[in-house]
Amino acid sequence: MLKINNKRSMMPLQQNLYLETPWDFKGADTKYYTHGLHSYPAMMIPQIAARLIKENLKNGDVILDPFCGSGTVLVESMLTGKESFGIDINPLTKLIAESKTTLYDIDELNKTYSKLLQRIETSEPVKPPKFFNIDFWFKPKAIEDLAKIRDAINNIPNKFKAFFLTCFSETVRKSSNVRQGGFKLHRISEDDFKGYNPEPLAIFKKHIEKCMPKIAEFHNVLDNPPKPIVLLEDTRKKTSVPDDCVDLIVTSPPYGDSRTTVAYGQFSRLSLKWLGFDEKVVNIIDKMLLGGTKADNLWKVITPTLNEYVTKIEQKDVQRANDVLSFYVDLDKCFVELNRVTRKGARICMVVGNRTVKGYQIPTHKIIQELGEDHDMNHINTIFRNIPSKRIPSRNSPSNKKGDISNTMTQEAIVVLQKI
Ligand SMILES: C[S@@+](CC[C@H](N)C(=O)[O-])C[C@H]1O[C@@H](n2cnc3c(N)ncnc32)[C@H](O)[C@@H]1O
Repeated sequence: MLKINNKRSMMPLQQNLYLETPWDFKGADTKYYTHGLHSYPAMMIPQIAARLIKENLKNGDVILDPFCGSGTVLVESMLTGKESFGIDINPLTKLIAESKTTLYDIDELNKTYSKLLQRIETSEPVKPPKFFNIDFWFKPKAIEDLAKIRDAINNIPNKFKAFFLTCFSETVRKSSNVRQGGFKLHRISEDDFKGYNPEPLAIFKKHIEKCMPKIAEFHNVLDNPPKPIVLLEDTRKKTSVPDDCVDLIVTSPPYGDSRTTVAYGQFSRLSLKWLGFDEKVVNIIDKMLLGGTKADNLWKVITPTLNEYVTKIEQKDVQRANDVLSFYVDLDKCFVELNRVTRKGARICMVVGNRTVKGYQIPTHKIIQELGEDHDMNHINTIFRNIPSKRIPSRNSPSNKKGDISNTMTQEAIVVLQKI
């Protein structure tokens, strides 16, 4: 039977609902400086990261994003001259976040690019990597060109490799047979497939040439900022971030388990295979993320709101109720780690989406508030914003059945907590 933790306060939840919220940033350019170097699912809008840092970092200098994804918060931390840590469990994010936050010598980068192009354009055919179904996901000409680009990048100086591998990874996705605009691995339709002839080298060049001037601008506005530390680690466990050192957390955790929400692992799979990561690890990334596997001790973390919703879902589908709980058990473990690394008085800002399961929209913002209270954090405020553009499922299949879709993520909440 369900047990409610009585330690928790049953105070009504404070909310600050802005109808036409200035947090929407509708029409804003979200790809300035290095933000457009690589796409990623459910990226945070850089303007939100910037504003959260500006309004919540009162004392101190250290910012953490414990689910850093492509590194949006880390780039914005550099722009404010603050030190930062980013943690993510998906290996592709380390590559992307590192290259977005490295200050390259632009002249040298340009010279390396010219040499790289020369090498690719004069290259003999190169043996492509071997991985399962490569012919299903790429046309023969795409495989041939991608193999040449990948091989040529092996031969450039190490200090520029991360940048070109990131652009290569973006090229892999854009020249694959995957339907663009989503994040799951669905192949384009048979009709589109026939006339589809992607040209990886042209895609690679176009992307780099679009990014170079923005990278140069990024350099110009920065005055020797500290380099963010990107950790390929699991936030549910003790990480390499030292005790009591973080003054501000700005983050957007996943919305739920990646099988039924955002499949970060599927999104990254083809890139990681081309980059030479171990196929066995690459195939199970989604299982490694929050809620990816069934947790033990399911009812341990129950909060009043979670109890209410899991009980309703359980009446329709016990398995789905367990999936939902597993996700929050994992999130609770992350709170233990966030508590360890933050200083007293540190603010914790979480941008969260309220997903729908079995017809019930789960108020994750309330659950986060309650979990925070269990981990010595006071609730300061919750701000709601509309999502004008973000790569998330605004329509998803809550039951995971084809055709059963509902509108879920047109709004998200920013929950601000403070460590007592
Ligand atoms: C909403 S995305 C973050 C997007 C990021 N704010 C950006 O702008 O690109 C959530 C991230 O949480 C990561 N994640 C999921 N489970 C994790 C865990 N146990 N430890 C660390 N990161 C995890 C996923 O890999 C994903 O990159």
